[in-house]
Amino acid sequence: MARHVLRVNGKDHEVDAEPGDSLLSLLRDDLGLTGSKFGCGEGFCGACTVLIDGQLTRSCVTRVGAVAGKAIATVESLAAGDRLHPVQQAFLDAEAFQCGYCTSGMVMATVALLKNTPNPTEQDIARVMDRNVCRCGTYPRIVDAIKRAAQQMRTTTTAVGGQR
Ligand code: FES
Ligand code: FES
Repeated sequence: MARHVLRVNGKDHEVDAEPGDSLLSLLRDDLGLTGSKFGCGEGFCGACTVLIDGQLTRSCVTRVGAVAGKAIATVESLAAGDRLHPVQQAFLDAEAFQCGYCTSGMVMATVALLKNTPNPTEQDIARVMDRNVCRCGTYPRIVDAIKRAAQQMRTTTTAVGGQR
């Protein structure tokens, strides 16, 4: 065991872990951040997706020893108190889930997509679906949610810009 300092959702956490331990296990079991899910455990399904230094990352195959000093963001970082992030709100409004197991990964992938691509094409959205598996097959609603979120975030940005 070694001591690691991980910066998760803006706060430093001192944790005892083997460098080769899975980041997902640490987030869920040690830090109680259970929004990220264990699906395949092999980097394929996207249920465990987090952002590390702004990059989409499969936390199930990311080792604790590789992320010290990096900014780790989980789905729990998105809402501001009771106010959901626009992407979360769009998923809710579009009812873009059944069991919800894939949702946090889909949401994180959408947040990353819209940060760099505020007006995504159908192909851009399809790429999110390619990398994240929804076993309930709610893809049409997820596509709808991504479009709603993009629209909402563009509107907000325009409104904020207009006030300047
Ligand atoms: S649980 Fe990590 S990619 Fe499936
Ligand atoms: S809503 Fe069940 S896996 Fe996507």
